[in-house]
Amino acid sequence: MKKIFLLMIAILLVASTSAFAIIAGSLHDLSATGGGNNLSSCQYCHTPHHASADTDSTLPLWNRAMPAGPFTLYDSGAGGAGAEVTLSSTPVNAPGKHSLTCLSCHDGVSNYGDVIVGGARLSDVTMAGSTKAIGEQLTTTHPIGVAWNAGNLAGLAASVPSPYRLYDTGGEDRLECASCHDPHSDDSVAATSFSPFLRGDKTTMCSDCHSAK
Ligand code: HEC
Ligand code: HEC
Ligand code: HEC
Ligand code: HEC
Repeated sequence: MKKIFLLMIAILLVASTSAFAIIAGSLHDLSATGGGNNLSSCQYCHTPHHASADTDSTLPLWNRAMPAGPFTLYDSGAGGAGAEVTLSSTPVNAPGKHSLTCLSCHDGVSNYGDVIVGGARLSDVTMAGSTKAIGEQLTTTHPIGVAWNAGNLAGLAASVPSPYRLYDTGGEDRLECASCHDPHSDDSVAATSFSPFLRGDKTTMCSDCHSAK
């Protein structure tokens, strides 16, 4: 009996964490808006065959060309000219893979159709002009490409809290776009719960990480 109960809980947990179903009809369901092709929504980002040769296990079966930039990095100014740092002097590095995935559409200049497999079937659309474009100027966006330096001016928790993720780049675990966002997640635009593909609850997520603020 106890075993069956635990099994039921396990099944419920799996069901409640499988966010992939939500992508249909979300703003990341480009099969509806990407323009006259027969790719599934997943194939704008993943492919079953002939994927990117980058075998990073956190970037499975990746199907997009990474954007070349150049990107202008966030800079608090605390390090003087030419040294991009936060107020706590944490170096701000070029966007890592888990930001480039996003910027391969959200840079405002890359075509949604810049996929490795299936591109010829896509129409030529970019995010230019959309309020959802982040652009190549990252100066006005929350720092990305930063390592986790607990207990500094930013009031960070001792380690990154769940469900947020850090990504190993250049031998250190860094914050990237996908640390705060899950591209498969809910993008409900209901006025009370607007959650643009966020990993956490928008009302608490800043203090989830900045717990000493
Ligand atoms: C808009 C781009 C995009 C679309 C569309 C997309 N994915 Fe992903 N997927 C990603 C990214 C980016 C990651 C890496 C997650 C990260 O950065 O932590 C990922 C990771 C995954 C993973 C690894 C588990 C995880 O959570 O990291 C699986 C499995 C997956 N995707 C399946 C799917 C399936 C199935 C679909 C279609 C229903 C889909 N994806 C559609 C971008 C996308
Ligand atoms: C294949 C292209 C593509 C990729 C890759 C992609 N996006 Fe998007 N994203 C879109 C499109 C298209 C929209 C809707 C644009 C519009 O409405 O003008 C969108 C919208 C969004 C929104 C707004 C949701 C809302 O409800 O307002 C967020 C947030 C977002 N994306 C985050 C991300 C993040 C983070 C990543 C990387 C993990 C990512 N996207 C990767 C195409 C992409
Ligand atoms: C520290 C967490 C965090 C990081 C890192 C982050 N975002 Fe966001 N993002 C948010 C939150 C929170 C919102 C919702 C803002 C709102 O409701 O007004 C948001 C909103 C968005 C939107 C919706 C449109 C807008 O401007 O509000 C897009 C698109 C987006 N993010 C893309 C990205 C991309 C691309 C990156 C990496 C370059 C990124 N985000 C990095 C937390 C983050
Ligand atoms: C996933 C964890 C995480 C979340 C969620 C998060 N941050 Fe941050 N934030 C960081 C990290 C890491 C830094 C870099 C700290 C450092 O200077 O070493 C940072 C830095 C900052 C800074 C200081 C920048 C500087 O130049 O020193 C501000 C301000 C900030 N975040 C605001 C926010 C706001 C507002 C939100 C909610 C929308 C948010 N953060 C959500 C991790 C997070």
